[in-house]
Amino acid sequence: MDPTWEQAWHAALYGPEGFYRRPEGPAGHFATSAQGAAAELFAGALLELARREGLTTVVDVACGRGELLSALAAQADPSIRLVGVDVVPRPDDLPARVEWVVSPGGADLPDLGSPTAALILAHEWLDVVPCPIAEVDDEGVLRVVHVAPDGSESLGDPLTGPNRDWCDRWWPGPGSPGDRVEVGRARDVAFEDLVRRTGSGLVVAVDYGHVLGDRPPAGSLVGFVDGSVCTPVPDGGCDLTAHVAMDSLRPDRLLTQREALRELGVDGARPPLDLARSDPAGYLAALSRASQAAALTSGGPGGFLWALRRVG
Ligand SMILES: C[S@@+](CC[C@H](N)C(=O)[O-])C[C@H]1O[C@@H](n2cnc3c(N)ncnc32)[C@H](O)[C@@H]1O
Repeated sequence: MDPTWEQAWHAALYGPEGFYRRPEGPAGHFATSAQGAAAELFAGALLELARREGLTTVVDVACGRGELLSALAAQADPSIRLVGVDVVPRPDDLPARVEWVVSPGGADLPDLGSPTAALILAHEWLDVVPCPIAEVDDEGVLRVVHVAPDGSESLGDPLTGPNRDWCDRWWPGPGSPGDRVEVGRARDVAFEDLVRRTGSGLVVAVDYGHVLGDRPPAGSLVGFVDGSVCTPVPDGGCDLTAHVAMDSLRPDRLLTQREALRELGVDGARPPLDLARSDPAGYLAALSRASQAAALTSGGPGGFLWALRRVG
């Protein structure tokens, strides 16, 4: 029988020829808040969060090629330690102060040295942590979905055990034939593992997500390549991503990115026109900040969910 989606997904992204081992990295295929045009403002907001919480190390888990860390290095006081974690060796062009740890990938994490007073960010990590996919068959039984290298699917055994328990608790009632569940237990376990590897501080997972009562009945698994959504095919030729059940991570706080950034002082208000006359350069800088803020707090990115867990 073909592998389960969880197995095929892992091999496609993190196997020897996996999508995320390609030299261009994620930024070669899509922009995110952490490496797009607004990364500078995003980095500033994270440093403000670290300052308010008294945190002196920032670890960016699943950091791509370290784009956000470069933005952090440009703004952070030299006393702030910066660490990147991803599946490839340290990129050559990172600022010298940025440390780097190579990770196995997916749900597996490396030894992070149990950092203390640390802000641990996982931005768009959990959506690429492979999870089982289950589908309701014609008799109403929830079965594990298997997938061939060309993307064609078949239904296997009924979903049982802790993954079934997870569905009963966190994704109840997929009832009609064809309804699907992306079983988030794998993400919960990965998040707990990250928390366990943190000596003290704040762990923040930021992702596309949903909460109980708002799960997508048909699931959300898609492929992504060269800036476009594509059919999810586990052949290493595209990203494979599914939204995250953020409430089952059991965060201390769960808020939208819009709310989180507003709390941190990110404001998309345009500067007063008077400033254009009195201080043209200042006006242009403020305008650029306002447009970065709008990019982070409106539309899709504004609706991203931040799951915060305090450690120690
Ligand atoms: C969607 S990209 C996000 C990159 C970056 N955080 C951003 O928002 O632009 C997902 C990244 O997660 C990385 N990744 C997946 N599993 C990982 C793991 N266990 N440890 C470290 N990085 C991981 C991938 O290699 C990839 O670079």
